[in-house]
Amino acid sequence: MTPARVAVLISGRGSNLGALLDAAETPGYPARITLVLSNRPDAAGLAVAAGRGVAAQCIDHRPLAHDRAAHEAAIHAALLEHGIDLVCLAGYMRLLTPFLVGTWAGRMLNVHPSLLPAFPGLDTHARALAGGVKLHGCTVHLITDQMDAGPILAQAAIPVLPSDTEASLAARVLTQEHRIYPEALRLHASGLNGAYDPAASLASPLPPLAFTP
Ligand code: GRF
Repeated sequence: MTPARVAVLISGRGSNLGALLDAAETPGYPARITLVLSNRPDAAGLAVAAGRGVAAQCIDHRPLAHDRAAHEAAIHAALLEHGIDLVCLAGYMRLLTPFLVGTWAGRMLNVHPSLLPAFPGLDTHARALAGGVKLHGCTVHLITDQMDAGPILAQAAIPVLPSDTEASLAARVLTQEHRIYPEALRLHASGLNGAYDPAASLASPLPPLAFTP
């Protein structure tokens, strides 16, 4: 099977991009990262892409701040120009309009740092701590016109420890993002939606909890 051509859309650090690039280099992986687009020129992920020899381009949203349609048209044109099959959002911090969402329906994935449908939107780790949840995690889902609400492809859960801070929780969730995003892309690019094994997310033993229920 010819590997799917994948574009990754970023706005910042690009650690999930790195995880996807690593996975895509493994033999038999059904996708190749062939384009990285950022809406911010200072996104560190652009250097990650360049360092791996992947075409990387900034389509700055700021000159088009009042014209989302024009910004998305430029993104769409770049995706077409590079013959892209699938799009992975990885820390892409722009809301999409129905044009891009509809055009790429079923072919656009996102990773979100919570167990959706809990905590859509921003500041998920702080809200998880404030809400006193005992399990937190991350989700890979398809993009639809509802923010952070499309069909779920993969999830991983971690325990929230009494000692957790926003930073410690974010770090442990990010480790799981790096694990499940490549797995979800592998399944999606292989046409194996629904085959994600959530038990695999529970395979590692939970650390002992420091409280008495
Ligand atoms: C990740 O936590 C992702 O879930 C969220 O933004 C962060 C991006 O991190 N949407 P990185 O740029 O992939 O390192």
